[in-house]
Amino acid sequence: MQPTLPPGPRWPALVQTVQYATHTREHLLGLHARYGDFFTIHALNGPVALACTPALAKEVFTADAEHYSAFAVQATRSVLGSRSVLVTHGAEHKRQRKLIVPPFHGARMRAYGEAMLDAARERTARWTPGMEFRIHDEAMAMSFDVILRTVFGASEGQDAAEARETIQRLLDAFDPILLFTPRTHHPLVPAWRRFLRARQAFDEFVVRCLARRRASEGGTDIASMLLAARTEEGAALDDAEIGDHLLALLVAGQETTAIALSWMIYLVFRHPDVLSKVRAELDAARDAEPDAIAKLPYLSAIWDETLRLEPVLADVIRTVASPLEIGGHLLPVGSNVGVAIDVIHRDPTLYPEPERFRPERFLERRMNAFEHLPFGGGHRRCIGAAFAEYEGKLVFASLASRFDFELRSVEHRARRNVTLAPAHGVRVVVRPRASAS
Ligand code: HEM
Repeated sequence: MQPTLPPGPRWPALVQTVQYATHTREHLLGLHARYGDFFTIHALNGPVALACTPALAKEVFTADAEHYSAFAVQATRSVLGSRSVLVTHGAEHKRQRKLIVPPFHGARMRAYGEAMLDAARERTARWTPGMEFRIHDEAMAMSFDVILRTVFGASEGQDAAEARETIQRLLDAFDPILLFTPRTHHPLVPAWRRFLRARQAFDEFVVRCLARRRASEGGTDIASMLLAARTEEGAALDDAEIGDHLLALLVAGQETTAIALSWMIYLVFRHPDVLSKVRAELDAARDAEPDAIAKLPYLSAIWDETLRLEPVLADVIRTVASPLEIGGHLLPVGSNVGVAIDVIHRDPTLYPEPERFRPERFLERRMNAFEHLPFGGGHRRCIGAAFAEYEGKLVFASLASRFDFELRSVEHRARRNVTLAPAHGVRVVVRPRASAS
């Protein structure tokens, strides 16, 4: 069989990349309508073949991991660190996942629930009736706080102040241009110099933070658990590798969770019927433990429906490292293959009236892992899915049961780095909930 790519437009790569970056959903849906369930975008990062059905997604996600390397690593490796789980592949990636995944297992969530609720309570204590703000900014502050507490174990005092400042400086230095092309990684590029200074300060902070963890032992935060982790050969991870992993959790986990929460508030407060149903469920569970709240069926359906309609990432992509057959095409080595989450989530045969926000659909039918895939799938599936879900539901429950949000913006999606977020950040006026007792 000769290597071939599925069909797709032949416009210049720059045009296709810009169209994809600026009008992602419309572009993907348009290409799907024109070229069918498996098409190729010729982008600046090389050809990307995108699968648009659950059956094809299954082929992509269940193929042997050895066929793949991570997408666009030339640009991301020197920013995220060469040992970051976001850039490694093959045996090294598998080894790292084994070490990082345990603190994210569902059962561990109970330990993080209180930190998530504290972050929400502390942030909302600053709100005054009639105050106007962007939910996105508040959600970013809360998810930052949750990561500081649960990942870095920094909740108060000198530690927390130092962590907050160093990590914020690094996040601010993450200019998307650095992730786009390695050509920007040059001493003459101011963004690169700024990033290097911030990254060095972060690495030094991680060394101090881990030294304190070693001295105190038994911490339940994720940094402490990575310190205690041992490879199959019984070796501990060195500080530099732990630093790469902590950074990966930070960049992959903060903004994504904040965007999901922002959409959740926006969609629910635009649909009064959904709001009153979920409030009835939350009111009945007022004294329940966080674990029980996270399992509430209607709240869970809202979470699933939010990420169906507004998946934070429109697709997931891998690079083909050895010949691989998908959808009847033998994909060339060096090309890329992905799953168009956004297109599958809008398939009317799976989701009738796909543009409607209707959480009930998740109570009526159980979707499988290739039909509902906001966290990707296969060997690179999101490590933090259970964590994000727990946080999203608990923080939403805490906000929706105590506050009314009057929506002041009409939202559409806009690109933020690699994610897609509400363009205006969900502008609201907040008041104490009218009927709250
Ligand atoms: C609603 C929030 C989130 C969404 C929608 C999301 C989505 C995703 C997606 C689509 C991927 C790529 C999966 C693939 O390639 O198949 C991913 C990977 C990843 N996510 Fe998340 N994520 C979220 C929250 C989090 C959180 C809270 C963390 C950790 C604190 C996290 C850590 C990671 C990591 C480390 C990876 C890389 C996995 C690998 O390459 O092996 N994510 N996420």
